[in-house]
Amino acid sequence: MSSRDAELLISVDRNGPASMQAQLERQLRDAIRGGMLRAGSEVPSTRDLARDLGISRPPVMEAYAQLAAEGYLALRRSAAPRVADTAPGHRAQDLPPESITTLVFRYDFRPGSPDLSSFPSARWLKAAEAALKTMTPDDFGYGQRYGVLPLRRALADYLGRVRGVGADPRQILITSGFEQARALMARALKRRGVTELAVEDPGYSDREVWLAAGLKLLPIGVDEYGIDVAALGKSRAQAVLLTPAHQSPTGVVMSGERRLALANWLREKNAIALEDDYDAEFRYDRAPIGALQGSAPDHVVYAGTTSKTLAPALRLGWMVAPPDLLLAFEDEMRLMDCGRGRLEQFTLAHFIISGDYDRHLRKMRALYRDRREALLAVIAAELPEVEISGISAGLHATVRFPRRLNEAAIHENANKRGMGLSFLRGHYLGTAPHESTLLLNYASMPESALRTALRTLAAIIADS
Ligand SMILES: Cc1ncc(COP(=O)(O)O)c(C=O)c1O
Repeated sequence: MSSRDAELLISVDRNGPASMQAQLERQLRDAIRGGMLRAGSEVPSTRDLARDLGISRPPVMEAYAQLAAEGYLALRRSAAPRVADTAPGHRAQDLPPESITTLVFRYDFRPGSPDLSSFPSARWLKAAEAALKTMTPDDFGYGQRYGVLPLRRALADYLGRVRGVGADPRQILITSGFEQARALMARALKRRGVTELAVEDPGYSDREVWLAAGLKLLPIGVDEYGIDVAALGKSRAQAVLLTPAHQSPTGVVMSGERRLALANWLREKNAIALEDDYDAEFRYDRAPIGALQGSAPDHVVYAGTTSKTLAPALRLGWMVAPPDLLLAFEDEMRLMDCGRGRLEQFTLAHFIISGDYDRHLRKMRALYRDRREALLAVIAAELPEVEISGISAGLHATVRFPRRLNEAAIHENANKRGMGLSFLRGHYLGTAPHESTLLLNYASMPESALRTALRTLAAIIADS
């Protein structure tokens, strides 16, 4: 921005007791000290500020000169005036550190991220252009807070076609990703009088939202057929959170028998399941199994997201609510905010309707399948003792060692070499097995980096 465009929240009172110069000096000094004008930021030229305030230029020049002499402003010939870098102001070190810092690793094996470099920018831009061209003036208003209708319609078609989810667009609520669906679910369950929620153990490790909502978590074991439905039946749970298509993080798929038993349990107990269908689009050996929602639509809240298929940065997801929970979700959403960004929603609607979403998924499936195969080949050569469990799907592999590794030392060593790791142990609420299991994200690294990273990992493990 040029200083000509820089606006400043300053006013002067022509009839006040203080001179123009004194008023300007005080306001600028206060703004710099208070951190409203940050070190290094541009301020308007004396000519522009005088013009904007409708006053003559000399008092502005005097005020700037005084502030420069006091060390607040840096004035240089033929350069825009700026707040001095050394100006006494609000300093970052006065603030508490951010409570959650994002670690950036050169080789990041931690599960969660898709290949961010594959975001389909050109096609997305096309969809955004189409959205902008077709949006009416009304579409730029607050509109429908639960999601724009074209996207809800597009998703109803897509989810029915690809995931076997039966939904009327009215049952679909656009969320800012699974995390919002989870927050809404926590509140809606509380409202319904649910106090105990069953969760897969091991499971998606971020569980604080449930606890903060006052729900008690009941860990239920997971084996090669998915969550132990018999154990769930014996528990006091009135609701369950699960990942049937591809269990997070073990990678198993829920068997048909278990799905049937679960659907029966939901009906008999009048219970609710939150189905986190976070990465079902990525199955490499065969077509994915349909969503659980299709088997018990009155008892399943289905949640999907673009975080794995496109990018977490979009913060765009959806939930499909059973009719008798819909009003509770709408109420809770209304208390939260005014809805997701509408431009992104219209863009995603165009992206899906044009076929670009399906095309992108097909391309990514091929890429991830190759990366998974590369990972398996290097593992077979470098870490022959391990067993890969879980189906050929998703964005990470589950690598089981026949013994307990020194996980803390491996972690520390890996971090020192710029490598992010995640052991399965951290995903248990109850007691984890003795042996070590690593979760290895293969989706976010090109094959060459994957090979280098795996060889480094094998060396780190051997050293520890
Ligand atoms: C199993 C699972 N569910 C949900 C999410 C979060 O999804 P969102 O980004 O849509 O909030 C993640 C993210 O890593 C995940 O691994």
